[in-house]
Amino acid sequence: MKKVTVIISAKGGAGGSFLTAGLGMALAKREKSVLVIDCVSGMRSIDFMLGISDKIVFDLGDALTRNCNTENAVYQSVFSDILYVMPAPQENTPVSPDVFKNMLETLGYDHILIDCHANDFAYGLSRHFQTVIAAETEPLSVRCGNRVLLECKKNRCRDIRFVINRFNEKEFFDSGFFNDLDEVIDQIGARLLGIVPRDNELSFAFQKGQPVKNKSKAVFALDRIAARLDGIDIPLF
Ligand SMILES: Nc1ncnc2c1ncn2[C@@H]1O[C@H](COP(=O)(O)OP(=O)(O)O)[C@@H](O)[C@H]1O
Ligand SMILES: [Mg+2]
Repeated sequence: MKKVTVIISAKGGAGGSFLTAGLGMALAKREKSVLVIDCVSGMRSIDFMLGISDKIVFDLGDALTRNCNTENAVYQSVFSDILYVMPAPQENTPVSPDVFKNMLETLGYDHILIDCHANDFAYGLSRHFQTVIAAETEPLSVRCGNRVLLECKKNRCRDIRFVINRFNEKEFFDSGFFNDLDEVIDQIGARLLGIVPRDNELSFAFQKGQPVKNKSKAVFALDRIAARLDGIDIPLF
């Protein structure tokens, strides 16, 4: 059974795309076929991160408007031969969530990950699928995370989780913004799915669209979140 997860950034730069690309990679390592769909019209990033930007002919907009067959807008990533990308349109392509949902139903992957902005058509989609909000432990990101959560709830989204991204323990405690992580979790108000540490090497690899060689804490954290998305019951810490 295919599992669709919508990933929404609490605020720009919180790492929604990083998390989507990283989880795609981690699920593929679990030998699950994955399609990552970039929904951020006009500001593609997944194609770049997963190394297919120079191959694009058709994109999500073409697939949704039937300008091409769905499979023509799908590209194999450089990271794995079971990790695929459907790039975002360069122009905004307004389309009803139902058209999108119907397209998803025709696709045969173990997992579909959707990279979205909070003000896109994410809410229309995440009503049907699991939603993951990416947030950082800064007050502004936490407030935005809570706003996104409230919007999701208003739109009757089910199964909403969040991931703390780009976490740095020393800076978290030195900053004094929060006493502990429980305070962050309470203020965002959703269930925590995992914590991804800051990892500049992985960020650089994504920015070069090059495979990651290191086995860092962030890669390990992404592996654990992917296992949870894959239905394996493993503890958070
Ligand atoms: N855990 C992390 N460690 C280091 N850099 C990160 C991490 N998460 C995101 N980044 C970097 O931060 C920048 C913004 O991330 P991005 O995923 O594009 O944010 P968003 O999609 O939420 O706007 C990118 O350069 C990305 O590589
Ligand atoms: Mg993004």
